[in-house]
Amino acid sequence: MILPFLLLFASFLPAKSYFSEEKYPEESRMQPPTVVIAILARNSAYSLPYYLGALERLNYPKHRISLWAATDHNSDNTTAILKEWLTVVQKFYHYVEWRPMEKPTSYAGELGPKHWPNSRYEYVMKLKQAALNFARKRWADYILYADTDNILTNPDTLNLLIAENKSVVAPMLHSQGAYSNYWCGITPQGYYRRTAEYFPTRQRHRLGCFPVPMVHSTVLLDLRKEGMKNLAFFPPHEDYSWPYDDIIVFAFSCRAAGVQMYLCNKERYGFLNVPAKPHHTLEDDRLNFVHVHLESMSESTRKARTSVKYQISSLPDIGSIYLINLRRRPDRRERMLFSLNELEIDVKVVDAVDGNALNSSDIKLLGVDLLPGYYDPFSGRTLTKGEVGCFLSHFFIWKEMVDLQMDKAMIFEDDVRFQANFKRRVIRLMEEVEQAELDWDIIYVGRKQVNPSKEEPVENVQNLVFADYSYWTLSYIISLQGAQKLLNAEPLSKMLPVDEFLPIMYDKHPNEDYMSHFPNRNLQAFSTRPLLVQPCHYAGDTEWVSDTETSTLWDDDSVRTDWRGSHKTLKGSAQVPEMLSSAYRDEL
Ligand SMILES: *[C@@H]1O[C@H](CO)[C@@H](O)[C@H](O)[C@H]1NC(C)=O
Ligand SMILES: *[C@@H]1O[C@H](CO)[C@@H](O)[C@H](O)[C@H]1NC(C)=O
Ligand SMILES: *[C@@H]1O[C@H](CO)[C@@H](O)[C@H](O)[C@H]1NC(C)=O
Repeated sequence: MILPFLLLFASFLPAKSYFSEEKYPEESRMQPPTVVIAILARNSAYSLPYYLGALERLNYPKHRISLWAATDHNSDNTTAILKEWLTVVQKFYHYVEWRPMEKPTSYAGELGPKHWPNSRYEYVMKLKQAALNFARKRWADYILYADTDNILTNPDTLNLLIAENKSVVAPMLHSQGAYSNYWCGITPQGYYRRTAEYFPTRQRHRLGCFPVPMVHSTVLLDLRKEGMKNLAFFPPHEDYSWPYDDIIVFAFSCRAAGVQMYLCNKERYGFLNVPAKPHHTLEDDRLNFVHVHLESMSESTRKARTSVKYQISSLPDIGSIYLINLRRRPDRRERMLFSLNELEIDVKVVDAVDGNALNSSDIKLLGVDLLPGYYDPFSGRTLTKGEVGCFLSHFFIWKEMVDLQMDKAMIFEDDVRFQANFKRRVIRLMEEVEQAELDWDIIYVGRKQVNPSKEEPVENVQNLVFADYSYWTLSYIISLQGAQKLLNAEPLSKMLPVDEFLPIMYDKHPNEDYMSHFPNRNLQAFSTRPLLVQPCHYAGDTEWVSDTETSTLWDDDSVRTDWRGSHKTLKGSAQVPEMLSSAYRDEL
């Protein structure tokens, strides 16, 4: 029956095109391999919003991914956050396996949430094995393990790892220090061994995918390869005599099965937290995480974040916290608010007096007059409008403190980056200052030191020194008594830049002439050592734009000054602070 119909149909076509123009549909493309992502979450409420956000953004079809998620032994909100996320996203993924366990909240013999007794290692090995069994049972092509403080900011990570076609491969993850998720050497006892290759690899001076004896934290396994059938996380191999630790057990299992581990650093894939010490608290870990991610990848972190919100709390023991922000720099304001929000520091934003908006008559009206004889010794210039605006911004905060009889305040300018554990260090410092009954007016937290060697440590308070002459007022804590002393000096009528005024008030300014205008130079000034904030940008950086240094001369609306003429700010760039050594800056 079919044949006559075909012949009839063919007869309508020109004879010669009968074979050449017949269209067959092309073979359709292959679907991407199937992947199980194993999520083992514990006490990671702080990092989950970023971690999950990054998983969501992987450029990989979600219907080819199954999620295997376990959480247990939590003392924070991990279960609720993970559950909420899985509920929202499960419809996009092929399958979701959810294994929460509410109790117990800790392991037997555990000293704290960051301590690893053997019972904990064993439990984690069993979980990883359960995820592996799940993936094998479902005939998944790959399983990706990724610790919950590993943020895969590069959305192509999964594709790039698959493209390497290795049995066991890890993306090199960055941390703030040398730490990463691989070893280049292992001792005969199964411990970390230093090697010459580690640093060139870590710093990406050599790029590629390298065979290494250990990868961990984020690892992709290709389950289709034959050698993978013998791998196990638990129980450890029968010949196993190395330390009882899940990552070492797995590395041994690969070795015993003749499977080579690989580490790739061809691209930047993401970040990980340096593991906390056993005595650390969850708060330490959280702050450490926030620090690494703010300082190293704030831009990509912001994008990576999923939609879970944090509670905001203030720094205990410090009254008000002010952020001086110039309206015309919304970028800085946003960055600072993001950082402070992540640090859970509740801040009052003060719109800075914009020097550029001031004209000479405004300045007279405020009673502002220049310190007789003030000029910048290096450039020969005088006060800029920006410097007037900056001074007035600080001044109005001191005035508010006195008006409201505020015990203490902390002030930030809007271009700072926070050092590790910023908040905890401030809290500890203030506790010690209190205990030592120190008589203090001002404590610098961020500034430019001029003579670090001349600064004596303070007895009974760790990491505090008597401040010598310094530049900049990036951040400081000020007492009511300090604010009162500064107002009493009536500085508006003999103004000079605020970072010059403060050293005069604590009697450490090198210029005797300037000092002679302020008879009561009894401010008790201290500084943290190390400093707890640094400027984001340095003079000379391409991004560096100073608000105080570019504006026009304050008392002449027609003349422009140029910060490039100022030796003072250029000097700041010559000496990069200790915390930002060149190696560290390379990593950023
Ligand atoms: C825990 O997380 C859930 C889900 O995001 C949220 O609704 C709840 O308020 C959180 N609880 C606490 C104590 O943070
Ligand atoms: C991947 O590696 C296997 C060997 O494990 C090899 O047979 C296969 O051809 C490789 N695939 C590609 C696309 O290179
Ligand atoms: C200065 O600016 C104020 C508004 O801020 C304006 O009222 C005043 O007229 C200006 N004076 C001069 C001399 O331009």
